[in-house]
This record gives sequence, structure tokens and C-alpha cells, in this order.
Amino acid sequence: MHEGTSFKRCIACIGAGYVGGPTMAMIAARCPQYKVTVVDINASRIEAWNSDALPIYEPGLLDVVKVARGRNLFFSTEVEAAIREAGVIFVSVNTPTKTFGEGAGKAADLQHWERTARMIVREAASDKIIVEKSTLPVRTAAAMSRILNANDKGIHFEVVSNPEFLAEGTAVADIDRPDRVLVGAQETPQGIAARDTIVEIYANWVPAEKILTSNVWSAELSKLAANAFLAQRISSINSITALCEKTSANIMEVSRAIGMDSRIGPRFLSPSVGFGGSCFKKDLLNLVYICQSYGLSEAASYWESVVAMNDHQRRRFVSTMVGAMFNTVAGKRIALFGFAFKADTGDTRESPAIGVARQLIEERAQVVITDPQALDNAKIDLADHLQAIELTDDPYAAAQGAHAIALCTEWQLYRDLDYRRIFERMEKPAFIFDGRNILDHEALYKIGFNVFPVGKGALKHF
Ligand code: UDX
Ligand code: ADP
Repeated sequence: MHEGTSFKRCIACIGAGYVGGPTMAMIAARCPQYKVTVVDINASRIEAWNSDALPIYEPGLLDVVKVARGRNLFFSTEVEAAIREAGVIFVSVNTPTKTFGEGAGKAADLQHWERTARMIVREAASDKIIVEKSTLPVRTAAAMSRILNANDKGIHFEVVSNPEFLAEGTAVADIDRPDRVLVGAQETPQGIAARDTIVEIYANWVPAEKILTSNVWSAELSKLAANAFLAQRISSINSITALCEKTSANIMEVSRAIGMDSRIGPRFLSPSVGFGGSCFKKDLLNLVYICQSYGLSEAASYWESVVAMNDHQRRRFVSTMVGAMFNTVAGKRIALFGFAFKADTGDTRESPAIGVARQLIEERAQVVITDPQALDNAKIDLADHLQAIELTDDPYAAAQGAHAIALCTEWQLYRDLDYRRIFERMEKPAFIFDGRNILDHEALYKIGFNVFPVGKGALKHF
């Protein structure tokens, strides 16, 4: 039993965000024998974690939190106390793209990480395992280990890498039944002991064959490479959408045919207005920067092209809109259906809808945004344009008097709307640009819409 408590182990997590919150909630729910304390410097975030209005929208998460909160799961702003108490400290503070100095626009900004490491050194009074949960550049563990172990207290810190592969919207299932858990550690006796401790935590609910171990650098790089591969699949399919639109091929048929090759597989081949989210672009640019810093310019430009194709796809979506609507959208009301970067989340980080809205505002359109979860974030993302936009959670109100609908997020609710009712209240000719190919295009055409899917021929009444 852990000293001073009835728990077998005390675990802390620094950073109560999209990664730290759900992961720790699951560990606590699955392992009542451990005390799990999640800390953050952001007091309002912690307050929300302690309420029924969690700070992130994630289906099923509240149920998991409720299993353990107050029993062995605690959310607190007392970072120092949590550091002192825990033997294992997960660090999941944010690592955004650097916006200043060397590597600006590409490299990961590690200032939160380094500040956290220094606080750990200051507060710790016993040996600790430090777990990299945030996505970090390969070899960060070496730098962190140096900072942590440059202490004169005789304390040893063992840094292991345990990247998180959860996707937003499916976080609970992803953590509960992961494809794999990866634990990277140094091949020293202390490294192996630390690795075994982390493996033991996950083994409480993850089958042994799904828990992989590797060296630290492989674990760090695997996370970046996995996200780069996923993003690359989307850019690859999106590059084919443009060709489909020129040749009367249908991207849905092409995607299906490609995906049935068992070497390729069917997932992550859905064409779209572009990928968003906090990870893909950041991790790709980080990978590009690392390749460049090792002089690997060909590898760098290969991965950079995945980002370029994504930006192009989003701009192309808006160009198609402007072209179809008689080369001008100035003064026209346009309803954006969905602002989140994907369905089932309120997160809008790097959402393609942000770029679509900005481009339409530049074209002087009147942009009306509707989304079931992301309107608060939309207001922040477009704070410099609030006079040019309108926000409503009612898609029917958004479409009222609109010349066009641009569907940017694949929320189920947009499949189920009464489009006849919507058509009746729109200006004519009425346009729908389906940036996710989720609507019934033939049915919409029959109602009277001019329909522009992605990677499929347009259905026009003129
Ligand atoms: C991603 C990774 O999937 C996850 O493993 C990692 O830990 C974090 O980054 P996330 O960003 O939450 O997760 O969402 P994901 O489901 O991967 O979608 C990313 C973006 O790609 C979304 O904008 C989504 O709409 C888009 N996408 C996804 C497509 O455009 N087409 C697809 O076929 C799949
Ligand atoms: P992710 O998507 O990687 O989880 P988030 O931005 O959602 O990233 O969460 C990171 C969290 O880390 C934020 O809530 C932020 O307040 C917190 N954080 C950043 N720096 C520190 C720090 N030094 N100490 C404690 N928490 C921190």
C-alpha cells in the first residue's frame, strides 16, 4: 500500500485536457486500487472536471468520470501537492506549434513541457517515473531526462514515452479497447523497471498482446509517424477527388474499390473538405521540422506536401462554391452546417470550417454558422470577424434566406434534416455543397437543390 493512503499506487497527471482527462478517468475507473489525481493550472477547467458539465464534449466520458470521481479520481489545481504524492507522473500539457523564433510555424513549442519538468524537479522528494503522454518530437525524453536529473537532491527520474492514440469523439472506446498501447523506455535496469510499472497499469484492462514495448525514441517517433500516415491517407484520397470531378469518376466508388484491397483497408479513405484537429497538421509540421533538422530534405518535403494538399482541398472547396454561384458570393447568405473539425466533438482546432468561413468572409458573403456543439469555439476562432457572421444552433434558422449551404462537419443530425422544408425557405437557385459526402445527393437534387459533392459530378438544374 502507498504510504499515507490506502491505495496501491498514486498516479498524477499534469494537464487536464483532451488527452489527460479521458485517459486518467479510464485508468481510475478500471483500477480502483490506484489513486489518480489530475492537475491543471487552469482553475476553470478543473472546476468543470469536478462538475457534470465536463470541459470537453466526449460521448460516454461523464459516465466513466462518475464511476471514479471522489473515489480514486481527483481533479485539482494543486500541482505541487500532486507531484509530491505521486510515484508515476503522466505529463499531458499542450505542445502546440511554435509561433516564434527558430522553427516558428513548424517545430513543437516545448515551453509548457519544460516548465512542468522544472516544477517536478523543484517539488519532488522521491524517485519518480515521468511519462510522456503529450506528442513530442523524437528525442525529447533525452532533453527532459537531462533537465530532471540535473538535481542535487539525489533523486532519480526515469522518463518513459507512452503516446496516446485516442481520437476525439471516440476517446472512451479508444482508451477502453485500444488497438495497441505503446510504452517506450530506456534499456537500462531503471528504464525496464519503469516500463514494467506502466505496462502493469494498462494490463488491468488491456490484453497483454496489445501492449507493445519499444525503446523511447521509437515510441516518440511512432506517434508522429502514425498521425502522419493517417493524414497522408486523407490527403491522398482528397487529391483523387479533384481528378474525379474532372473525369466523371465517383470518389465513393473509387474509395470503396481501393479500400477492399486488404493491404490498404477501408478506413480513413473518406473524402472531405480537408482534415482538421489539433494533431495532424501540428504533428506533420513537427515531423517536417525534425527531418529538416537532420538534413533530410526529401523526406521533409514529402510530408510537407500532405499539409499543402489539405490546404489546397479546403481552398478548392470554396473556389467551387464561388464558381458555381455565378462567380460571386458577395452579399449572399451562406449557411455553414458544422464548425467542429469532425462530428461528435465541440473541438474546432484546425477545423477546415475556420478556413472556409474566413475565405467566404473575404469574398464578402454573409456567413451563418450552425453546429450542435462548437458555437462557443466558433465565436473565439472568428473573434476578429464577429460583425460578419451569425451563429445559431438551429440549422433551419441558419438556412432561412440563404443562397447556399456548405456542409463542413459530418454530424448525423445533418443527414436527418427535412431538406424540403429547408429548400422552401432558401433563396433560389438553392445550392448545397457537401464537404463530407454524407447527404443523399439524388434526393436533394429532386427537391430542387443544385448539389455539389466532393469528388462526384455536380447535379445541376441549369
Ligand atoms: C487523430 C488520430 O486519429 C489519433 O490517433 C491521434 O491520437 C490524434 O489525432 P483526431 O484528430 O481526434 O485523432 O481525429 P481523427 O478521427 O483522426 O480525424 C482527423 C481529421 O481527419 C478530422 O477532421 C476528420 O474529419 C478527418 N478525416 C478523417 C477525413 O477527412 N477523412 C477520413 O477518412 C477520416
Ligand atoms: P491535449 O489535446 O494535448 O490534451 P489540451 O490543450 O487540451 O491538450 O490540454 C493541455 C492542458 O495542459 C491545458 O488544460 C493546460 O492548461 C495544461 N497545462 C499547460 N501547462 C501546464 C502546467 N505547467 N501545469 C499544469 N497544467 C498545464
